[in-house]
Amino acid sequence: MSHTILITGVSGYLGGSLLTQLTRTNLPPHKRLYALVRSKEQAEAVRRYDSEPLILDLRDEERVTKSIIDAKISIIYFLVDAVKSEHQITMIKALGEVKNQTGQDVHFLHTTGAKMFSQHAGFPTDRKILDTDSKLYELQKSAEPPHEIMAQALSTNNTIIETAKSYRVRSYLFIPCIVYGEGEGFGNRISIQTTAVIKSAKNLRAVYHVNPEGAIWPVCHVRDTTALYVELLRSILSGEDLEYGQNGYYLASSGSVAWADIYSAIAKALARRNVVDSEVVKRADDATLAKMGEALNCPKELVVVQLGGTCTLGTDRAYRVGWEPKCSPEYILDAADAEVELVLRNIKN
Ligand SMILES: NC(=O)c1ccc[n+]([C@@H]2O[C@H](COP(=O)([O-])OP(=O)(O)OC[C@H]3O[C@@H](n4cnc5c(N)ncnc54)[C@H](OP(=O)(O)O)[C@@H]3O)[C@@H](O)[C@H]2O)c1
Repeated sequence: MSHTILITGVSGYLGGSLLTQLTRTNLPPHKRLYALVRSKEQAEAVRRYDSEPLILDLRDEERVTKSIIDAKISIIYFLVDAVKSEHQITMIKALGEVKNQTGQDVHFLHTTGAKMFSQHAGFPTDRKILDTDSKLYELQKSAEPPHEIMAQALSTNNTIIETAKSYRVRSYLFIPCIVYGEGEGFGNRISIQTTAVIKSAKNLRAVYHVNPEGAIWPVCHVRDTTALYVELLRSILSGEDLEYGQNGYYLASSGSVAWADIYSAIAKALARRNVVDSEVVKRADDATLAKMGEALNCPKELVVVQLGGTCTLGTDRAYRVGWEPKCSPEYILDAADAEVELVLRNIKN
């Protein structure tokens, strides 16, 4: 039975880039492609991307449920909120009802983040953990995050897997990491972590280390990230049996890079533009962390969550479904100058 797809977050960095990549992709046959938006202007914009707008306020559970069931949507890509779970639960339940009515397999992909598999979430970092590790779900269930916001995000991941299972919905946890490169959508074109490093540096006129030596994080160019979203969609539409639920973790990363190298490349690019006083990366003390927190609008304890820490998660499952990233992990360092230019152009003073 042919599928109807709903993509959310399409005015965002990842969702907008995905929608653009889909216009360049010859997907297997499907019925319709909807893009969830919140305004008439956004609805106009998505029509230019060969998709049909669905104007919905996600807080209106009744309308969300009715819209999904009436349109017989059978695949939802959620790219809106990695921390809370309220909207996803409504959508998963509606997908369950579509399955009851049509007998068709239904699929829910939730976008989480590498932070939820890092030291910030209480995950071990003394060894590499592949996204195909059979203990990953157990680790997620038993982790004790040192920060409340991370506890909430982990609970969301658990809730999605468990709710989807009970409504017979196939769930996938899509894990973006440090994503970089210019977004290709009609809305937000910049990413999160590189922007945090640049914003903080611009305010303090210096780039600061916030990690112990050796801290690493997985990285991925935005086009490679969206290529994995597309590859998963292609597999689902082709009727291939993707692993899901407790085995449905898909990290989009071509490998890891040391934060120290990222800071250094960004510091050089900022110094070249006279945005910082020197290309030397300094070590942040407590008072500096407080100032970085002001620049990033968060308590000083969460600064490292925004732009540092260690995550040793590695990609395996994506390669098994045929994903082939084009950019090496180190390409983020070569691309740092362009990233700085892009972010400076896009952030407000
Ligand atoms: N970018 C990264 O490097 C990265 C890495 C790891 C994880 N993630 C996670 O991936 C998700 C998407 O990231 P992103 O960088 O694409 O974020 P983004 O650029 O901020 O986009 C967020 C999208 O969600 C939409 N949205 C927010 N609240 C909504 C609501 N209540 N109802 C409907 N739509 C709503 C926004 O629509 P409006 O334009 O209407 O506000 C926008 O389209 C986030 O949860 C993020 O934490 C991102």
